[in-house]
Amino acid sequence: MEVMEISGGRTLTGSIRISGAKNSSVALIPAAILSDGEVTICNVPEITDTDALTDILDFLGAKVHRASESIVVDSKSIENKLIPEDISSKLRASYYFMGALLGKYHHVEMYFPGGCSIGQRPINLHLKGFEALGATVNEDGNRYIIDAERLHGANIYLDFASVGATINIMLAAVRADGITMIENAAKEPEIVNVATFLNNMGARISGAGTSVIRIEGVDTLNGCFHEVIPDRIEAGTYTIMAALVGKQLKIDNIIPEHLEALTSKLVEMGVKIEIGSDYFIITKPDSYKCVNLKTQVFPGFPTDLQQPFTVLLTQCKGTSHLEETIWENRFMHIPELEKMGAKINLIDNHNIEVTGPTKLIASTVKATDLRAGAAMVLAALIAEGQTTICDISHILRGYEGIIEKLSAVGAKIKIKEI
Ligand code: EPZ
Repeated sequence: MEVMEISGGRTLTGSIRISGAKNSSVALIPAAILSDGEVTICNVPEITDTDALTDILDFLGAKVHRASESIVVDSKSIENKLIPEDISSKLRASYYFMGALLGKYHHVEMYFPGGCSIGQRPINLHLKGFEALGATVNEDGNRYIIDAERLHGANIYLDFASVGATINIMLAAVRADGITMIENAAKEPEIVNVATFLNNMGARISGAGTSVIRIEGVDTLNGCFHEVIPDRIEAGTYTIMAALVGKQLKIDNIIPEHLEALTSKLVEMGVKIEIGSDYFIITKPDSYKCVNLKTQVFPGFPTDLQQPFTVLLTQCKGTSHLEETIWENRFMHIPELEKMGAKINLIDNHNIEVTGPTKLIASTVKATDLRAGAAMVLAALIAEGQTTICDISHILRGYEGIIEKLSAVGAKIKIKEI
């Protein structure tokens, strides 16, 4: 078993370059099969989630060439086969192959998706969208069978602005006959990045980034060249880390507008941030004011930064209140932080109160999911002594080169086989 060992209490300085966005890449890789030509996607992070998706492309018979940060995909020879459960259940985003295969072949069979356990994670809105486009959805044991004689445009209203449903419906609708309108669509930057990719292939999508997306179906999609946007959640995680232990620490290659909800909270706490065109420079302040926080869909405070941000709240003077509105079970990091001495009151599944400032003490803790794992890394960096983090496969799913990046700015961090 691999564990991460971190010795806390060091000041970090220098520069961290942010990788391409995981949550864009995991949609772009399945979307690539919609093309009848060769697509090049650059700035794809080397993380286990993108590896798992390229394994699926390989399994389907696509020609995949990975050259450092780029992936070149030629899907001319793919077959529409049932992806083995042991590959598709490795990650949530395997469900983007549903929309893509349905869009291309009008038929898809797929096992229920896996992913971080942060709530029930239903996909009813995805399936409702496919049905509106003319597909029938059947369940056989633990797999879906989705068929359409023909896919046609439709007006689809999402009950919740779901990121996954918005992307999956775009993938299924992009080659359908006629016009599809998605209302109450998700507005996250990753949606815009996927729509731009499809448009680069020749799709006709407008409105991505607003709550109404219009998709005019086209017959074929071509090859293209596309770049993944910087990962706003990786950037946000390291920005929070800089507020905890940074000295002139530069978070580089970012889109600052994607992180405004975070930076405004940091400023409210008393953290000074130099905001450049594509970077932040941050130094840890002497003390932090407590703040209240609520996670929301973009451009609100991202749920994916809630767990790392909790660590910062343990250092604020007074009691902060945090409300998680997106997921119903995203407080699995709380017992782990409590092991390190954090004072947190779990009010219910959606609300916590954090009282500080508290000196955290090194301990052996678990990464219960990806962002909980990131929270453990930040907690370990400020704790006295050496922390051991178990179940680190969750962390490696989403943070490219975390050991190298943090070591380069002065952290004492390593992965050890035990
Ligand atoms: C994406 O998940 C991200 N994952 C998540 O990041 C992120 O937390 C989430 O969006 C919200 O920003 C990927 O992009 C791969 P949703 P997704 O559909 O698409 C409910 C990380 O840490 N819902 O917007 O699965 C759902 O239960 C990960 O990187 C339905 O009820 O999120 C949840 O409460 C974790 N029915 C809410 O909507 C549906 O059909 C938001 O889900 C779909 C969703």
